[in-house]
Amino acid sequence: MLAEKFKSVREVAWRVMDGIFKNMWDYKFVPVEIIARDSKVEEHKVERVLKGLADEKLAEVKQTEYLGGAFTFLGLSLYSLHRFVRRDFVTMLGKKMGEGKESMIYNCMSKWGEAVIKFHKVGYPSFKKVREKRDYGDLHYTVLMVRSARNEFNALKKLHGRVSVPKPYGWEGNAVLMELIDAKELYKVRLENPKDVLDYVLEEVREMWKLGIVHGDLSQFNILVSPEGVWIIDFPQAIDLNELESDEELKMAEEVFRRDLRNLLNYFKKTYGLKVDERVIDDIARS
Ligand SMILES: Nc1ncnc2c1ncn2[C@@H]1O[C@H](COP(=O)(O)OP(=O)(O)O)[C@@H](O)[C@H]1O
Ligand SMILES: [Mg+2]
Repeated sequence: MLAEKFKSVREVAWRVMDGIFKNMWDYKFVPVEIIARDSKVEEHKVERVLKGLADEKLAEVKQTEYLGGAFTFLGLSLYSLHRFVRRDFVTMLGKKMGEGKESMIYNCMSKWGEAVIKFHKVGYPSFKKVREKRDYGDLHYTVLMVRSARNEFNALKKLHGRVSVPKPYGWEGNAVLMELIDAKELYKVRLENPKDVLDYVLEEVREMWKLGIVHGDLSQFNILVSPEGVWIIDFPQAIDLNELESDEELKMAEEVFRRDLRNLLNYFKKTYGLKVDERVIDDIARS
């Protein structure tokens, strides 16, 4: 579906989307005039293209004092894919591997071999809410998808090599290109060695904490396991402790970190009857 849509987009429409992308942090709906300026497409043409994109559900148009355009989730995803293709990072789109409320995942061929593209669908309420509101004001919701993708890419980049996470290859728009992991979600398998797996994940979380990263959504749904290993995935809401600006933010981050660990311990307790002393949380927090 995405691949067919991709082929049907004309060059001029990609240029118009360039114009929206460039300005989406500054305008909720980017004025035709600004798109025309940045895409070097005449205004009346921009208008026509925008309306075409809206018919295809790739853009939203809004007439206020001026006509403006914004992406839809689908439009932004297609455009992000286009940017990967333009950089020769992605050479072929494969099958859809999954689609949930928060993301759409595709298999693809990349410069690095088989890979995964994750298109972010939601903007997480930012941890740095107060600051961001002040900085950015009223944003279109697709901007928040870009921020989620950036946050995930940055966390993966920081962690890869130190913690078992998919290797991140690139970030464009709302899309993150990463290593394909051949494994299943923890909740789908019955482990023979639950204690080993839990201990392993706890050590990874300790390493993450030492690097200053809190996952923020650690659970049996975001841990992949196979006979070859264990991986932690899904980092759009990760918190980087090094970017926090107050003791209050730090305290909130530590609360999230503790909640992550409690979720993890609860899952192993409930599923495997594994009882682990909750003091392990304090121990990791002191690392
Ligand atoms: N790098 C990857 N390799 C293989 N499968 C992945 C990868 N990343 C995500 N998936 C699959 O896609 C699902 C959703 O990805 P995830 O990052 O958890 O996003 P969401 O926020 O939608 O939960 C995962 O549960 C997993 O099955
Ligand atoms: Mg997930």
